[in-house]
Amino acid sequence: MPTREGNTILIRLGIVLSVFLLLLYPLPSQSAVCSIDLGTEWLKVAVVNLKPGQSPISVAINEMSKRKTPSLVAFHSGTRLIGEEASNLLARYPTKVYSHLRDLFAKPYDVAKKILNSLYLNYQIVPESSSSRGVAVIETTGDGEQSYTAEEMVAMLLKYAVGLAEAHAKAKVKDCVLTVPPYMGVQERKGLLAAAELAGINVLALVNEHSGAALQYGIDKDFSNGSRHVIFYDMGASSTYAALVYFSAYNAKEFGKTVSINQFQVEDVKWDAELGGQNMELRLVEYFADEFNKQLETGFDIRTSPKAMAKLKKQVKRTKEILSANTMAPISVESLYDDRDFRSTISREKFEELCADIWEKALTPLKEVLEHSGLKTDDIYAVELIGGATRVPKLQSKLQEFLGRKELDKHLDADEAIVLGASLHAANLSDGIKLNRKLGMIDGSSYGFVLELDGPDLLRDESTRQLIVPRMKKLPSKMFRSIIHSKDFDVSLAYESEGLVPPGAASLTFAQYAVSGLTDASEKYAPRNLSSPIKANLHFSLSRSGTFTLERADAVIEITEWVEVPRKNLTVDNTTSASGNISVEAGPKNASEESNDKSQVDDGIGNTSINDNSTTDLGTEKKLKKRTFRVPLKITEKTTGPAMSLSKESFADAQRKLETLDKKDEERKRTAELKNNLEGYIYTTKEKLESEEFEKVSSSQERQSFSKKLEEVQEWLYTDGEDALASEFQERLDMLKAIGEPIFFRYDELTARPAAVEHAQQYLTELQQIIHKWETEKSWLPRERIDEVLSEAEKMKNWLNDKEDEQKKTSLFSKPIFTSEEVYGKIFNLQDKVASVNRIPKPKPKVEKPVKNETESTGEKSSSTNSSSEEASQNGQTAGASENSADETETTESETHDEL
Ligand SMILES: *[C@@H]1O[C@H](CO)[C@@H](O)[C@H](O)[C@H]1NC(C)=O
Ligand SMILES: *[C@@H]1O[C@H](CO)[C@@H](O)[C@H](O)[C@H]1NC(C)=O
Ligand SMILES: *[C@@H]1O[C@H](CO)[C@@H](O)[C@H](O)[C@H]1NC(C)=O
Ligand SMILES: *[C@@H]1O[C@H](CO)[C@@H](O)[C@H](O)[C@H]1NC(C)=O
Ligand SMILES: *[C@@H]1O[C@H](CO)[C@@H](O)[C@H](O)[C@H]1NC(C)=O
Ligand SMILES: *[C@@H]1O[C@H](CO)[C@@H](O)[C@H](O)[C@H]1NC(C)=O
Ligand SMILES: *[C@@H]1O[C@H](CO)[C@@H](O)[C@H](O)[C@H]1NC(C)=O
Ligand SMILES: *[C@@H]1O[C@H](CO)[C@@H](O)[C@H](O)[C@H]1NC(C)=O
Repeated sequence: MPTREGNTILIRLGIVLSVFLLLLYPLPSQSAVCSIDLGTEWLKVAVVNLKPGQSPISVAINEMSKRKTPSLVAFHSGTRLIGEEASNLLARYPTKVYSHLRDLFAKPYDVAKKILNSLYLNYQIVPESSSSRGVAVIETTGDGEQSYTAEEMVAMLLKYAVGLAEAHAKAKVKDCVLTVPPYMGVQERKGLLAAAELAGINVLALVNEHSGAALQYGIDKDFSNGSRHVIFYDMGASSTYAALVYFSAYNAKEFGKTVSINQFQVEDVKWDAELGGQNMELRLVEYFADEFNKQLETGFDIRTSPKAMAKLKKQVKRTKEILSANTMAPISVESLYDDRDFRSTISREKFEELCADIWEKALTPLKEVLEHSGLKTDDIYAVELIGGATRVPKLQSKLQEFLGRKELDKHLDADEAIVLGASLHAANLSDGIKLNRKLGMIDGSSYGFVLELDGPDLLRDESTRQLIVPRMKKLPSKMFRSIIHSKDFDVSLAYESEGLVPPGAASLTFAQYAVSGLTDASEKYAPRNLSSPIKANLHFSLSRSGTFTLERADAVIEITEWVEVPRKNLTVDNTTSASGNISVEAGPKNASEESNDKSQVDDGIGNTSINDNSTTDLGTEKKLKKRTFRVPLKITEKTTGPAMSLSKESFADAQRKLETLDKKDEERKRTAELKNNLEGYIYTTKEKLESEEFEKVSSSQERQSFSKKLEEVQEWLYTDGEDALASEFQERLDMLKAIGEPIFFRYDELTARPAAVEHAQQYLTELQQIIHKWETEKSWLPRERIDEVLSEAEKMKNWLNDKEDEQKKTSLFSKPIFTSEEVYGKIFNLQDKVASVNRIPKPKPKVEKPVKNETESTGEKSSSTNSSSEEASQNGQTAGASENSADETETTESETHDEL
């Protein structure tokens, strides 16, 4: 029942969306919105499609019709490969295939090296040389030893993903939402955003994975009758988290009516960023590696062979999957090392024993989130499982045991819930799409952030290091801090505590800024009568995507001074007093927005003096005024180390590199297509030539010579043609077609021509009847028009007879004397002529009426215009005319539909 409800909602949503878009863009607009879930192992794409007749939200499939694609990039023989293609190289060229790319953002080289080593990944990384970031970059061997940053590599994956979305939607993708695991830090999120920018993607927001899942969970449910706590437990390939989410409903006024609006709030999320399905696989890899080493009996350790390890890892994945449904599983790796095959089996029991500590660790995030919330397992409405690794039976039984439940909640698609939910968020954020089903989303910052100030003469007190974003602070939010200071200073942003930083982070600090202009401003205003100490106001932004930045800073200078103001004729305004009653500025010290300087000056002068010259005579008077000056300060980012973003130059460089690769890919695709066309042509043509029918239309000599040509080109295809250019394939295809087409044409005409001739004869017979009818029943038809048709018919008849005679005398091996196309052309011509005569209307008898009635006169007019336009139009048959009118009614119908 709930799913059916969900479906109809989605369908309704689709209809609403498409109508909405039609209203916005009268011409059919071709843009779609998508979400991308880029994980360590897989990437998934969901599309919000506004085209009518397609399901509004769906998962995009890849070129292998799979719903998820390996998150891999490879470079081999100068060619870049992504996804499935890269995956195919994994066993043969493990060092040329790059994985875990998302996890390399902002990682110091040594940290990255350690991660890769622990996973037996042997691709080459080096410290970035073009910057002082100290991050790891990937050095490719299959691409002339280029190096690529994590941003560049991920940009390739994202661009590929958008390509899938566009192919699926058959439309351009305008906006995207990208999902991120909750533990992703500020600099990693910035890295992902930079990658998306490199890929030319307009990112509406990053969204935490658990929020995506919560959206998908809540969109088809109603919480007005009861709120609930749900925990989303996600174990993916490389990480695990548990998120506590509160679903509820509140009442709101909408168009004067009270409606209930569903919403959810993420209350907490805890994770283990280094525990996932791949850890279980690694246990199996170690186990089998030992076993194989023993079998080898040479003392050699296959762990030192990247190729062997890659093969073993690939097979182990399968073994683990089999163990999820069976108590025993085999493993079989052909030629694992040194031409020796490896075969073994493992029981589920043994597997569970190997992973004993993993099961315990897996519960930790769940325990923590419960403990922190003070809720008991009974208070939790559901613990929904997502992520591929939650399919492992032992993990499920551990969870059941801990929760004291017989059944676990598996209402969501373990693989696709996140990406589907994220696409709802994308639709919600994208312009021009109105979700007809509302679900409010409140997510919070995964990390707490502190603000640190540093600079000359800065008092060291509790305000120089203060918590500015507490954990789970609502996204997005703006913050404001005011400090009393008169010299330039530095601002650092850091994670709240050592114990809670993104995995592998080099330091607590993730951003540093120099704030300048304050010293100058202070000096400039120092001689003035300052009414309060100079302040610097700092404006921070916690974005929807979970990044945190210092956005803006300004100096605030308050001065009290006597100013000359024109004296006014104050007979009306009786609140005169020299000291003036201008204590506007009485706000608290921390108040953010004082009215600014300009408006106060306006207030002082007033505008009565303009009308009345006499007031100038009164002279001026002095007033004590309080004025506030705001001076924008300059913010210079000076973050150092791995948390640094790509510099402008590196970014431009990266764009160029990626563009070159894209062009190469395009060329490769075109070449492959042309090569395929040529191969296909040769294959089908050879088959045709061998069939008997073609003996009728070609001499054996002709066929033999053509066959030889085909052989030659085929030979070339598999030798020199292996790496030929697109143009070379095209040239050969054109050459072959020039020989082949005439033969196939003759063959087709063998049946088409007689059919056409018969058709013509039939029509000529019919025509006789038509003319007879004209002569007997339509006396008003002009004789010369009928004769014209008769003569045309005669001409055609003669032409047919001549051509047929000639054709009979001609060999079927040579070019036909006439073609079926010519015959049909002649028939159509004649039919046209007949139709135009047919339409000559019967003249209306002239009715003599003294008063011309309007309705009658318009009737006459329309009939006369009808006939004249029909005569003018060449192929205006009656059918054509009725088609026209059908068109008209259709357009008016769709117009009214639009307006709905
Ligand atoms: C909510 O509760 C009321 C009364 O208990 C019931 O009539 C209504 O059908 C419920 N609505 C939903 C959506 O469950
Ligand atoms: C959708 O947008 C509304 C209005 O901006 C917001 O209140 C709500 O939280 C959003 N919901 C989702 C799922 O993004
Ligand atoms: C300076 O400001 C104070 C009030 O803050 C005022 O009493 C005093 O007259 C001002 N002095 C000058 C020189 O403007
Ligand atoms: C002030 O204005 C009043 C009328 O508004 C006028 O009668 C009076 O003469 C004016 N005084 C001066 C000094 O201009
Ligand atoms: C100002 O004028 C108003 C009437 O316009 C009067 O009620 C008020 O008492 C006057 N105030 C003074 C200080 O003269
Ligand atoms: C200033 O205005 C306040 C209220 O607006 C009034 O109570 C006070 O008497 C005024 N002071 C002078 C000097 O007019
Ligand atoms: C006001 O004074 C200006 C010069 O100060 C003069 O040009 C203008 O004509 C005067 N207007 C009236 C209405 O007297
Ligand atoms: C035309 O004839 C109709 C029906 O006879 C009549 O209702 C109408 O008023 C006439 N129109 C004029 C302009 O005379």
